[in-house]
Amino acid sequence: MIKTLANGVQMPQLGLGVYKMTDKEETLQAIDTALQVGYRAIDTAALYYNEEEVGEAVRASSIAREELFITTKVWNDDQGYDETLRAFEVSLKKLGMDYVDLYLTHWPVADKFVDTYRAIERLYDEKLIRATGVSNHHQQHLERLLATANVAPMVNQIELHPYLTQQELRAFCAANNIAVTSWSPLGRANVLRDEFLQQLGAQYGKSAAQVIIRWHLQHDLVVIPKSVTPARIEQNFDVFDFTLTPEQMAQIDALNRNERFGQNPESFNFDHLK
Ligand code: A2P
Repeated sequence: MIKTLANGVQMPQLGLGVYKMTDKEETLQAIDTALQVGYRAIDTAALYYNEEEVGEAVRASSIAREELFITTKVWNDDQGYDETLRAFEVSLKKLGMDYVDLYLTHWPVADKFVDTYRAIERLYDEKLIRATGVSNHHQQHLERLLATANVAPMVNQIELHPYLTQQELRAFCAANNIAVTSWSPLGRANVLRDEFLQQLGAQYGKSAAQVIIRWHLQHDLVVIPKSVTPARIEQNFDVFDFTLTPEQMAQIDALNRNERFGQNPESFNFDHLK
């Protein structure tokens, strides 16, 4: 399944997240497994300290670079216009690539995220990235960018799962043609224990994880479940042979309790950066 971004670029809707993959061999193996079972998108970040492994695993595969969709992000310490341009160069070098498909601001660092995004726009103009975007931006952050941007962000990557459905922010993004990517789509595995989701999965011979991934896809979200376990990486991609009914989608929507397992962009502590 493909999500077409505002500029027409096609982004695979299901990708592998590599957050917290720091063991080199484990990371190489996870990406190798993912590429073998059909994943074509990998979501990394400077903060994850595994861009080198992502590049290495991609080169070791026989898949042409143009068939892959690689996302990375500028970390908070590197925000600002010149800093972001420099950070991008470092990421590109680590990846061993001559472009990335999507480059994102990692968090909206106050007083800096607007300049950070301006640098991302420049990278786009220079064709070093195929699409622009941000992560963890709320409506107020997006409004600030939209007020001055020449190229509106095409993606906003936010924490999103059945316990944090982000209805309002999704509606704002949809109205502005900004694709939404769900990070921690399984709620860092916490949502997998939900009995309703487990029972629903059993009806289809699927796990709770597969039901959740299906829910993201049917909501037109991009989804990047993280796993280092080959069997789970494979399982998480085996979601194209069943469809949740509108009623089941609504039942999953109703599980929302605005519960975060990661940081809240409103209260993220950026003080150590000042
Ligand atoms: P592991 O990496 O050890 O396989 P999220 O993407 O929401 O942050 O969730 C990631 C967590 O969910 C990781 O702890 C990962 O474990 C676990 N996980 C990923 N896929 C599955 C699955 N299909 N079944 C059970 N746990 C999973």
